[in-house]
Amino acid sequence: MSYAETYARWKADPEAWWMEQTAAIDWDRPPSRALFAENAPFYEWFADAQVNTCWNAVDRHVEAGHGDRIAIIHESPVTHTVRKITYAELRDRVASLAGALRAKGITKGDRVIIYMPMIPEALEAMLACARLGAIHSVVFGGFAAPELAARIDDAKPKAIIAASCGIEPGRVVHYKPLLDGALELAHHLPDFCVILQREQEVAKLVPGRDVAWHSFQFGVTPAECVPVEGNHPAYILYTSGTTGQPKGVVRHTAGHLVALCWTMKNIYGVEPGEVFWAASDVGWVVGHSYICYAPLLHGNTTVVFEGKPVGTPDAGTFWRVIEEHRVASFFTAPTALRAIKREDPQALLVRDYDLSSLRALFLAGERADPDTIHWAQRALGVPVIDHWWQTETGWAIAANPLGIEHLPVKVGSPSVPMPGHDVQVLDEGGHPVPPGTLGAIAIRLPLPPGTLPTLWNAPERFRKAYLSHFPGFYETGDAGYIDDDGYLYIMARTDDVINVAGHRLSTGAMEEVIAAHPDVGECAVIGVADPLKGQLPLGVLCLNKGCDRDPAEIVRECVARVRDSIGPVAAFKQAVVVDRLPKTRSGKVLRATMVKIADGEEFRVPATIDDPAILDEIAKAFAAIGYPAK
Ligand code: COA
Ligand code: AMP
Repeated sequence: MSYAETYARWKADPEAWWMEQTAAIDWDRPPSRALFAENAPFYEWFADAQVNTCWNAVDRHVEAGHGDRIAIIHESPVTHTVRKITYAELRDRVASLAGALRAKGITKGDRVIIYMPMIPEALEAMLACARLGAIHSVVFGGFAAPELAARIDDAKPKAIIAASCGIEPGRVVHYKPLLDGALELAHHLPDFCVILQREQEVAKLVPGRDVAWHSFQFGVTPAECVPVEGNHPAYILYTSGTTGQPKGVVRHTAGHLVALCWTMKNIYGVEPGEVFWAASDVGWVVGHSYICYAPLLHGNTTVVFEGKPVGTPDAGTFWRVIEEHRVASFFTAPTALRAIKREDPQALLVRDYDLSSLRALFLAGERADPDTIHWAQRALGVPVIDHWWQTETGWAIAANPLGIEHLPVKVGSPSVPMPGHDVQVLDEGGHPVPPGTLGAIAIRLPLPPGTLPTLWNAPERFRKAYLSHFPGFYETGDAGYIDDDGYLYIMARTDDVINVAGHRLSTGAMEEVIAAHPDVGECAVIGVADPLKGQLPLGVLCLNKGCDRDPAEIVRECVARVRDSIGPVAAFKQAVVVDRLPKTRSGKVLRATMVKIADGEEFRVPATIDDPAILDEIAKAFAAIGYPAK
């Protein structure tokens, strides 16, 4: 069946279409129907089913006779190790961990925060929670203690599972001191913390609170899978919004299982038993969906890669891993390819490896620029598929569904909407615009299974942030257009979210940190174009009247504050000091105009500007630090 037929079949009867897809899941009690719209515009899928995620991701493959199949390959160039775990081993390890958590009081509905680097134990912790019906919230290791504390206070976990350390090229990330720091800042305290001691750094445990990963499992009874309702939250994943307070995206269990299973064959084109590799991090949605859950649900082998595209040890690492493990389908962010391209522009290192197993490369997380796509197409000789999604949606809104039909690629477009998504481009008044016209991208409600039903503890924020601007639609926060053939083009964000090396960051959150500096009167953080990371944050600071300190010193302090408060992943390293911020007469900071100045793009001086002369000062300040870049 072609893509057009598949999409049309979904559109003709979405509920029947989704009910058909439930056949891929082992249910304790199958759903009686697909959509539960009683609380519209809050929708739920398969709410009255009973099911367990861990059973579907692990145990059922063992029961089906595939216990010897490799479930997880840990590829860790930073520790020079490779480790393989079979499905049978994974089941035993997860059942034991879940048993130990249960023995310490973790039951269905309890929250558990997971703060771990790219090691198989991170996946095992997620699966152990799923086994018990506990709700995990994984926090990315590149966040600093205050960000971890904010998530602890919002999720109120009964337990935290962490590793002693992570390894970044050239430095050890001290997870345990970061965790201790977060627990000093947080108002909520967990009952206990489980610490996995890595040999690179053994952490000091706090007696009475911390237990060691191995010893706390000693002698426990392994836990069986606990069936949960279809609308039971599987996890909470925090993501950046426009303010400093992150949004807790909730994922319901049954829709997550059904949607992810569907994508493995139909979008990524892989069969059970094949090796699937998403080079992301479990702290991001790509890691949740395509390092942990989807490949395991589908019976694939997943690669947990603890390294970087370059420098661990070189720009050929990705190709080595693909050769060594016979990877069939590979998923990464465009920024990773740009990093490789910068070191190996002719892709000479590709020739050192046998990439015959690879059938496709998938890109997401940020706009895939045509140069990078062309480079990858030439280097690898396989389809390079851009696809577009968000933490909120959990899987692709638009893609080129390789497993259904390889549609013609239009470079610069993530192709076409996937079944489940009625994507519309709207004007300010909420009316669909003609093809080729730029507008806000929205998805007609209900969103499909697997997407967010609400925000954790914040249904009103969910409604306000996503549903109120265009009634009847989910507002994606992205702007773009649809061409005459129905292909989508994602051009920009409509809010203050920026995308740095495929990581989603809030300029508002950085502004909150900088504004708290005693010498800063006002500030704005904008995202400026960067050839490697896509965007980089740039601060524009105004100092308090009478402040006679060295501005360079204040900039250094602000950079340190953002690193200590948000984390190194914010990559906030540059700022300028100016007398005033450009504003409209009503006081709105002209961020978009500043972005255009920094990027060297044409712009019109806004008619509503308070004082146009400020723009010259801004341009001079930017030029002094090399913007626009040559
Ligand atoms: N734990 C602790 N610190 C982390 C971290 C982690 N898990 N991940 C990143 N950091 C730190 C880095 O060490 C760096 O710190 P530094 O300022 O001391 O150098 C900082 O956060 C910024 O990291 P990053 O954005 O990764 O930049 P980089 O310069 O180290 O590497 C790339 C550049 C392009 C190679 C890298 O960004 C990359 O591989 N990107 C792919 C991103 C990706 O897969 N995203 C997932 C979306 S699908
Ligand atoms: P995250 O929630 O971190 O996955 O970030 C989601 C955002 O990243 C989207 O709203 C887009 O702004 C951007 N994004 C993700 N994938 C793509 C893509 N393929 N093309 C353009 N932008 C993308």
